[in-house]
Amino acid sequence: MNPAFKRLIIAGLVLLIAVVVIEMFAYDVFKISWVTFMEIQPAFQPMVQPLPVATDALPVEGAAYNQLVGVPSNPVPSDATSTARGAELFSLNCAVCHGKSGKGDGPVASHLKNKPYDLTSFPIQSFTDGGIFFIISTGVPGKMPALNENLTVRERWDVVNFVRTLK
Ligand code: HEC
Repeated sequence: MNPAFKRLIIAGLVLLIAVVVIEMFAYDVFKISWVTFMEIQPAFQPMVQPLPVATDALPVEGAAYNQLVGVPSNPVPSDATSTARGAELFSLNCAVCHGKSGKGDGPVASHLKNKPYDLTSFPIQSFTDGGIFFIISTGVPGKMPALNENLTVRERWDVVNFVRTLK
């Protein structure tokens, strides 16, 4: 065989192997966690609870989480607009567990180990608006999910105003 041709084949093979190895990195067959500047900072991973807000910080939407300020008072008047919005948000976010009319008889209630509360009567109706707001925001660990990511602050107050109409 012509030695030049032989060298060409060897060079071709070497090139092919190099490309395969590089592609293995490109397609994550070998994973390398490259250092990037985005990574060198405090961050939380998907599906992980957001970092707690500093105790001396006030969120722009009002005292939604601040433990120092205490339970916030309801800034949203309970008018027809608010309760109508609240009713719709309640049917989307709460009714699966608490039932359409808040009696704690939603379609998934029978499958839950901890039964959702009847929101229409004592003790829930004796809570302050801010108390109900906090429960919606933070949930009840292991029993009810925190809905702060599903509902904006304003939407939570609309739900609170609607829950008040259930009694
Ligand atoms: C996944 C089901 C589920 C969803 C969705 C849900 N809840 Fe609950 N909720 C529960 C359960 C279970 C409890 C009872 C917790 C306990 O036993 O302390 C509860 C308790 C409550 C309480 C009383 C908390 C306490 O411990 O005193 C309030 C108020 C309440 N829910 C309001 C709401 C509102 C308003 C929504 C919608 C924005 C909502 N919940 C959505 C399951 C749910």
